[in-house]
Amino acid sequence: MFICSNCGYKSLKWIGRCPNCQEWETFVNEYEFKIGNNQKLEIKKLKDLEYIKEERLISNIKEFDRVVGGGILKGSLILMGGDPGVGKSTLALQLASKFKSLYISSEESLNQVLSRAKRIEINNDNVYIVCESNLNRIFNNLNESFDLIVVDSIQTVYSEDVPSSPGSVSQIKTCAYKLLEFSKLRNTSILIIAHITKEGEISGPKLLEHIVDVVLYMETNETNLRILRSYKNRFGPTNEIGIFEMTYKGLKEVNKPEDYFISSINYAKPSISRSIILEGLRPLIVEVQSLIVKTYYPTPIRNSTGYDIRRLNMILAVIEKYININLRNYDIHINIVGGIKVSDQAMDLAVALSIISGYKNFPLNPKVVYIGEIGLTGDIHKVFLMDLRKSEAKRLGFEVYENKKTLIDTYKDIFENF
Ligand code: TYD
Ligand code: MG
Repeated sequence: MFICSNCGYKSLKWIGRCPNCQEWETFVNEYEFKIGNNQKLEIKKLKDLEYIKEERLISNIKEFDRVVGGGILKGSLILMGGDPGVGKSTLALQLASKFKSLYISSEESLNQVLSRAKRIEINNDNVYIVCESNLNRIFNNLNESFDLIVVDSIQTVYSEDVPSSPGSVSQIKTCAYKLLEFSKLRNTSILIIAHITKEGEISGPKLLEHIVDVVLYMETNETNLRILRSYKNRFGPTNEIGIFEMTYKGLKEVNKPEDYFISSINYAKPSISRSIILEGLRPLIVEVQSLIVKTYYPTPIRNSTGYDIRRLNMILAVIEKYININLRNYDIHINIVGGIKVSDQAMDLAVALSIISGYKNFPLNPKVVYIGEIGLTGDIHKVFLMDLRKSEAKRLGFEVYENKKTLIDTYKDIFENF
C-alpha cells in the first residue's frame, strides 16, 4: 500500500500526484497497521452490561479540567496540538506535576525541561522524566505505573517496528497505536503533544484525531492569552474552552475572562457594543468596536479581526438594504476586543449596532448587551441557550436588550431621533 503523506489518501500503486489533495510526490510506502487478535469474541446484550463509573484525574487546573470534560479520564489518550512556542510543553509539565507522572521528552534535553520546571516552579517528587525517542525502549523499561504519561512530542518519537524516520506518517500512526494500546492495557492516561506545521496544515495531528479519545488545540492571538479548545471528546462536550495567560511562571488560569474580553470603558461611547457568546457551554461577554472613516479608495476597505469577514459583509449589506444607510463611501474596520475569535452568530446584532453607532456617532447604553442572529431578510433570529446567556449577563451586571423582531425596529428603537 502507498499512502499520501500529506492527506493520508491510500493507493495500491505509487502515483506521482495525489488525486485527493493534488500534491506532488507525496506517496510513500506504507506499513499497514495490523492488530493481531486471536482471542474469542464475546458479544453481550447492552441491557445486561454493568455500568462502571469512570475514574477521572482532577488536576485542579480548572480551565483544563473543564475542557477535557471534568478531569482526564483514566486510561484515555489525549492529543494536544498547537503552534510551536504556544505553551504546550509548559501546560503539559504543569499537568504532570499534579499527578504521579512520567514526562517523556523526545524533543528537549533534561536540562531544558529542568530549566522550564525551575522557571515555573515545579519541584514535586512525583514527576519522573526521561529523554528518549525510542518508544519500544521506553515501554520495555516501564515497570512502575503512572497516572499520566506525557509524550512531548509525537513527531519526534519513533518505533523500531517501522523503518521510516520520526515524523513520517507511518511512524506517527504506529507510535499513536502503540500508545493507545499501552494506555488501555495499563489504564494509564497519556497526553500526546503534536505540533501544527507552519502552513497550518495539521498533517501530524490530523492523522491522529480518529485514534485518540480527546483532541485539544491550544490557540493564541499573538498576545499572552492562550485558549485551549476541545475539538473532539469521547467523554465530554466538545468546543469547550479553557482560557489561560502565558506568564513567566507558566500558564495562569484566567478566571475572569471579562477582564480580557471587554474594554474598561464603562461610559457611553459610540461604536462600542457588547454581546454574550457561547463557547461550548460557556457564556462569555465580548465586545466589538468599529471604526468607520471616509474611504480614499474606489473599493472601500472591509477589515475584521476576530469575526468572519463574510459575515461582516453580509451584515453591512443588510444595514444598507433595510436601514438605508449608505456605507459604500466608508472604510469599515471591526475588532473583537481581547483577540478572541467569535463564530457564534448571536454576535451579529452587536456587530450591526456597533457599526450603526459609529456611523451615527451615537453611543449605545454601556450596561446593555445585544444578542441576536441577523437574517438576510433583516430579521433578528432567536439564538439557542438564551437563558444561559441571560444569567451570565446578570452575573456581570448587564441587561439584555429585548430583541425587536427586525433590525429596522431595533434601529428605530435606539437611534430614531438621531
Ligand atoms: P513551550 O511550552 O515551550 O511551547 P511549546 O511546547 O508549545 O512549543 O512555551 C514557550 C513559551 O514559554 C514561549 O512562547 C514564551 C514562554 N517563555 C517565557 O515566558 N519565559 C521564558 O523565559 C521562556 C524561555 C519562555
Ligand atoms: Mg514544546
